[in-house]
Amino acid sequence: MKLHNQTFIITGASSGMGKAIALEFAHQGAHLVLSGRSEEKGNELVSAIQKRGGHSFYFPGNVNDPDYNKLLVMEAEKKFGKLDGVVCNAGMLGLGKLTVLDKETWRETFGTNVDAAFFLLRQALPVMEKNTRGVVILNASIAAFKSFPEHPAYCASKAALVALGKQLALDYAPHIRVNSICPGPVDTPLLHDSAVAFPEPDKALENAEKATLLKRLGQPQDVAKLALFLASEDASWITGSVFTIDGGIMARS
Ligand SMILES: NC(=O)c1ccc[n+]([C@@H]2O[C@H](COP(=O)([O-])OP(=O)(O)OC[C@H]3O[C@@H](n4cnc5c(N)ncnc54)[C@H](O)[C@@H]3O)[C@@H](O)[C@H]2O)c1
Repeated sequence: MKLHNQTFIITGASSGMGKAIALEFAHQGAHLVLSGRSEEKGNELVSAIQKRGGHSFYFPGNVNDPDYNKLLVMEAEKKFGKLDGVVCNAGMLGLGKLTVLDKETWRETFGTNVDAAFFLLRQALPVMEKNTRGVVILNASIAAFKSFPEHPAYCASKAALVALGKQLALDYAPHIRVNSICPGPVDTPLLHDSAVAFPEPDKALENAEKATLLKRLGQPQDVAKLALFLASEDASWITGSVFTIDGGIMARS
């Protein structure tokens, strides 16, 4: 097992990629502190992990809240005695052209996609530094590099997250590795919400699939496998890197 007895915090774990990462990490022997908003979905995930012999605790809350992030780190230490890694995965779209976007939506999008990583990591990094080892994985997006209509807050916040990841890799080496994942279209509720910004949402999803060289949307498990690789010792010489996982979309001119 690649993550035997290691403790990870995963945000946005109640759905989509976060859920797939939680199941994959638990399967590989990790102990998990899980964050999300839906109590019901969180409880279902904890029982699914338990049925497979894994250990996890779920704490519903808002990643925009610094105290909530503090609680996640405290609970990891309390329940499992240590913290080996963090996956900052929670995210939101905050759709709307810049000129119609209200300040609250802009702030909430940056709050969820960037500030939340700041709040969680300022608590988690010192705990991992104490153990002189740790892994941070940031779930960004190809939107950090590529434009999508009516996604100004999303594109700008994901670019900020990628930059933050590279910077943290510098300050926290050599003991802590920090890497970003940039998925293309992955079949989750967020992707379907994102399609609403296009004139013909169904067509947009079809086009997203066609735009991949591999002719399919990503599945949450595709991303979970990359997260597992980055979290494991297999990636022990990888830090400050940005991994595109998009079925080949970014390879197109
Ligand atoms: N689906 C895609 O095509 C795609 C592509 C690139 C990047 N991403 C990124 O992947 C990550 C996971 O998204 P997903 O596609 O699995 O979507 P999803 O909608 O299935 O999951 C999003 C998760 O984030 C959580 N979340 C959102 N705001 C929160 C808040 N304020 N407090 C606590 N939790 C909050 C939700 O509860 C949910 O668990 C996001 O950061 C998203 O931006 C998604």
